[in-house]
This record gives sequence, structure tokens and C-alpha cells, in this order.
Amino acid sequence: MEKDVKALKTIDYPFTVGETPAGKEAVLSVRNLAISFKTDEGMVRAVRGVSFDLYKGETLCIVGESGSGKSVTSKTIMGILAPSAHIDSGSITYEGEDLTKIAEEEFHRIRGTKIGMVFQDPLSSLNPIMKVGKQITEVMVINGDRVKRIYRDTINDSLIKWKNDERLLSLAKIEYKEKIHGKTLSDEEKQKAKEEFNAYSSKMKELIKEDKKALSAKKKEGRAKAASYKKKCLKAHFKNLFPLARKTLASLFTGGFSEAYGELIAERRRYVSEVRVSRKEAKRRALKIMEEVGIKEPERRFNQYPFEFSGGMRQRIVIAIALTADPDVLICDEPTTALDVTIQAQILELINRLKKARNMSVMFITHDLGVVANMADRVAVMYAGKIVEYGTAEDIFFHPAHPYTWALLSSIPDVDSKERLEAIPGTPPNMLFPPKGDAFALRSRYALGIDFREEPPMFEITPTHYAATWLLDERAPLATMPKIVSRRIEISLAKEEERQHGLSK
Ligand SMILES: Nc1ncnc2c1ncn2[C@@H]1O[C@H](COP(=O)(O)OP(=O)(O)OP(=O)(O)O)[C@@H](O)[C@H]1O
Ligand SMILES: [Mg+2]
Repeated sequence: MEKDVKALKTIDYPFTVGETPAGKEAVLSVRNLAISFKTDEGMVRAVRGVSFDLYKGETLCIVGESGSGKSVTSKTIMGILAPSAHIDSGSITYEGEDLTKIAEEEFHRIRGTKIGMVFQDPLSSLNPIMKVGKQITEVMVINGDRVKRIYRDTINDSLIKWKNDERLLSLAKIEYKEKIHGKTLSDEEKQKAKEEFNAYSSKMKELIKEDKKALSAKKKEGRAKAASYKKKCLKAHFKNLFPLARKTLASLFTGGFSEAYGELIAERRRYVSEVRVSRKEAKRRALKIMEEVGIKEPERRFNQYPFEFSGGMRQRIVIAIALTADPDVLICDEPTTALDVTIQAQILELINRLKKARNMSVMFITHDLGVVANMADRVAVMYAGKIVEYGTAEDIFFHPAHPYTWALLSSIPDVDSKERLEAIPGTPPNMLFPPKGDAFALRSRYALGIDFREEPPMFEITPTHYAATWLLDERAPLATMPKIVSRRIEISLAKEEERQHGLSK
């Protein structure tokens, strides 16, 4: 498809991914996210202004070479960045809350329950000396104690406030010490700093005292709430239990014992499940999930250790663990890289099946565009900490516009023709010193003079398709994608047409 480049709109960073398409709902919105790491050599600019939306029930694939910032982005969403990381800017909106702003304590509510994650290497996410069954049920039992959860939810805000105030005070203390140990301050200034700090410190100590008081009041309230919930469950339980027990007793004489007894047991189970997830219930659910992720003979497998499983089966266990909390969003960071090709295809199929069955949204990270083809609804191509092209799977596979996307597409080995894999020349840039202009220019045979001076804006090709390359500017010379890419597109379009034709016959 030829495009009238003169008509293209441009969007400066931060790029804002356009309007939400009709009928779509964004579950996760990342805007202008920038992350740096403090290292001995300096600041590593790992993520430099990334924006995307994950729509409900869709799969968004993030594709890019090693070091492009894919894992850092997903770790930020999960709240598991290394302590040396710093969020320079941006927001991650999930259910109306900005995940970059919520406190660690509160993250427990979301991490692993509403947003699940599957990592590249299944061995490192499993405990080698714990039976897999226990690893699956453990999460459920921990998350499943409803009485405890009521207590935790009640005290949560006060707990966070107290911890935050403590943190503010200790930060001020560090700042103050640094200030007075510096040589630049005169005695007078030091005295002033001391007075200021003392005033601040006594104000904060007052506040912390109040926080502690508020917290202990909340603890009391939490205990009362939890106890009353338990009592309510018990009461309802007894109300049903007595008649059932009587019925069971009567059935000893009149017959139908097993039926009445069954009812009694079921009622007890209902009670227990209202209060907490019991080990037995957790096991029942674990076996069901193991079956759901395609583990045969789950009863036997339940009591085995990770080393008794193959790589693919282990990754299924990791997926099962992520599913126990019934997450809305599943983030998969290169979940199949450690697996061989056939097993890889099976895991991809599993993720696709689970996504449909559970109406989950999936963020799928990979360095291999070939893997993306059967998974993605939408694709974000990342290079050197930025999204350089963003669009629907069709946009990216049939109308790719960025030279980096072309390079990625050229490097996918062709299944039919076994066409030679064209490696991308050069290496990704060192993010201690992000290149000026277009970061890919040094490795691109399409680079223009301006690429080395000025960063390209995002060009809006269609309302769903964006690319950041000067080639889309009206002043740029006409550039066409590499033959290997256009030929493949032609072939797959022809195949698709043939398939459609076959279907209509
Ligand atoms: N803890 C850290 N300290 C310093 N730099 C880091 C840290 N973690 C990541 N980085 C840097 O951030 C950049 C992005 O890393 P990231 O792990 O997100 O890459 P990736 O796209 O996931 O690559 P891969 O395909 O290899 O997993 C890299 O330059 C990396 O060196
Ligand atoms: Mg990674």
C-alpha cells in the first residue's frame, strides 16, 4: 500500500498512542515511562519515554533486541525493579490507579493477584526443593485467608501513612547530614540548617506519633471487623447446619443417610470456603488448573519436584502458579526462549487458549518477531528504550514502516523457503550514552543526515499505526522496504487469498 507521506501527522514525544478504538477498553495504560539505573559508570537510560495501551482481551507483543528495555518496562509494571532503578517520568494506569505512585505495601494487592507474570526461565521462578503442588497451592492459601485479608485491608492505609512518614523523616535526616558535612556551608548556614531540620524532625515525630495511634485504632477496628465476619459466617453456618445434622440423624432410621450426610458435609465445606481457602480446596483448584495448562496425570505430578519435569512442563507449572489468583493481565517475558521450537509452539498455543478462555489481557515480550505472528493483536517494536513502531499485527506485518522493523522482519527465518537469515548488522547502542537523533541510524542503511542530528517524531500513518522514522517525513527521499520483506509479505498475502478462496469454495 502506497502512503501519501505528505499528509502524515506527527506527534512529538511523549507519544500518546492515539484514541482508544471503538469497542476497546484499555486495562493498562503506560504513558511516557522513563527509567534509569544508577551504576558506577553513570546513569543507564534503560527506558526513554514509552507509551502504549493494553486492551481488554487482547495480546500486545513488545518486540526488540536484547537490551532494548522490554524487561525493565514489564518489571516496572510489576513493581519489581532493582533498587538502583529510578522512575524518571511517566505513569502506569491500572484500574484508575497509577502503579508508579503506589507504596510497596499496596502493591501486594495487585502484583501476582490482578497482574500475573511468567518469566523466561522456569527453573529460576520455581523453588527446586519444593514439590510443585505445594508451590501452586501456597499462593492460593496465602491469598485465600479472607479473615486475614479483611484485617489487612482495614489497616492498610494507616500502615502506609506511618511507613511513609517514617521514610520522609529518614530521608530528611540523610539530606541534612549530607548538607552539614559538605564544605560549602558557612557556620551560620549550618546553624540555620540545623534549626530547620530540628523543626521538621519534631513536626514529623509528632505526626508519626499520631500515625501510630491511628494505626493501633485501625488494628483494633480490623480485628473487630474480621471477628464479626467470622461470626457472621459461623452464624449462617449454624443456622443451616443444625437442621442438616437433625436430618442426617433422622436419616439413620428412615434411610437416605448418605444423601443427608453429603448435604451436611457440603454445608461445612461452604462455610470453610467463606472463611478461607483450605488446603484441600486449594489442592482441588490446583489440580484443575494443572489440567487446564495441559499437565497430564495432575494427581501424580502434584507430588513431584521441578527437576522431574521437562522444560516445557515446568513452564506450564509457572503459568499455573500465575493463574491461581485469576489475574486480569498476564505478562509473559520471553516465556519460550529457553525451550525448543516444538515445545515453544505448544506454550504459545496454551497462552492463546488461556487468554480466550479467561478473557485475559496478555503482554507478551519477545525478541523474535516470528513468534509474534500468531499471538499479537497489537505490536510495539522497541529499540534503545523507545517504541519506534506501534500498530496492529496487520500494520506491523503487512505495512511495516520503520527500518528497524524491516530489519527484524528480514531476520525471521522463513519456514518454507528456509531463506537465509539476515542478521541485523552492528550491535545495540550502549544505554549509558544513548545516541543522538535516531538511535538505529548507525546500523541502518536507510539512515539520512538528519537521523544523526535530530530525533524523529512519531508519524501517525493511520489512527492505529505509528512509526518514528524520518523516512516518513515529506522531505525524505522515497525509500522502499528490503526485497526480502516485501516478497514475504506478497507470499503471505497470496497464501491468505488462497486460503480464503479455498474456504469460499
Ligand atoms: N539492574 C540494572 N542495572 C543497570 N542497568 C540495567 C539493570 N537492569 C537493566 N539494565 C539495563 O537496561 C537496559 C534494558 O534492559 P532490559 O533488561 O529491559 O532489556 P531487554 O529488552 O529485556 O533485553 P533481553 O532481550 O536481553 O531480555 C539494558 O541496557 C540493561 O543493561
Ligand atoms: Mg529481558
